[in-house]
Amino acid sequence: MVWRCPSCGQALEDSDDRLLCPANHSFDRSKEGYVNLLPVQKKRSKRPGDSLEMVLGRRAVHQALLYQPLAEALGDVVAERPQIKTLLDIGCGEGFYAGVLSSRLPHLALYGVDVAKPAVKLAAKTYPHHHYAVASSRDLPVMTSTIDMALCVFSPSNDAEISRVLRPGGFYLEIGPGPDHLWQLKSALYEQPREHKPARCEMVDGSLWEEGELRYDRTLDNGLLRALLAATPFAFRGRRESRAALQAQSDFLVTIAFSWRLFVVGETGAQ
Ligand SMILES: C[S@@+](CC[C@H](N)C(=O)[O-])C[C@H]1O[C@@H](n2cnc3c(N)ncnc32)[C@H](O)[C@@H]1O
Ligand SMILES: [Zn+2]
Repeated sequence: MVWRCPSCGQALEDSDDRLLCPANHSFDRSKEGYVNLLPVQKKRSKRPGDSLEMVLGRRAVHQALLYQPLAEALGDVVAERPQIKTLLDIGCGEGFYAGVLSSRLPHLALYGVDVAKPAVKLAAKTYPHHHYAVASSRDLPVMTSTIDMALCVFSPSNDAEISRVLRPGGFYLEIGPGPDHLWQLKSALYEQPREHKPARCEMVDGSLWEEGELRYDRTLDNGLLRALLAATPFAFRGRRESRAALQAQSDFLVTIAFSWRLFVVGETGAQ
């Protein structure tokens, strides 16, 4: 058990259908199996993170395997390092990447946090063998030096928290958009679309160990195009008429582009 009490910072232990710390702070396990470790006073809004609609859009995108090549590439990075046994997915969404990793590498103990309750609920329901908590990446409810690899795919992260929870010599794998990720969608929505900024090569308390890019095209039918729109901030941006025209399209060609960076934390030589 790597979870720590958000009230006092001590280790949480399983006790029937809840988690309990030595100071008797208690957190109920939901019927899906996740725990809510986000203190009410740290909630920045009533429903933080992605809405249910966005979560369901992302689930449809993942079920259509649009990002499967990325999941396989991440699987390669993890599989090359058999010393990785405990992995924390930060901003895990509905659990897709952890799901691919655990089916390929069943020895992994998988933990996931996301600030959005609908995302964590769906992840816990789909992957009952993983461990999920509602929590923010700004304040991870995870004991210090317990994680071998932290993963963050297109989600907000916090270097200080990542290096705290990783064991010395542990890995942080960060994935962001490549410059022309979903370029055709942006071009259809915005008059002056901009490329994504290059991925960062520096991390506080970490050193860049390996990096890679992945880029491919896919043709989306109307259902998948709508799901992708619902899953991204594009759903709310762009001109209304452009959005309506885009939502009516089918056979829409889109470029998918990722950059990944592997950092090693706390020590100069990765173990
Ligand atoms: C673009 S989605 C990526 C989800 C998942 N990694 C994937 O690629 O399928 C970003 C996720 O970050 C979550 N999120 C936003 N702010 C967060 C925070 N401060 N801490 C943890 N998760 C956060 C959102 O709820 C959402 O699920
Ligand atoms: Zn406590």
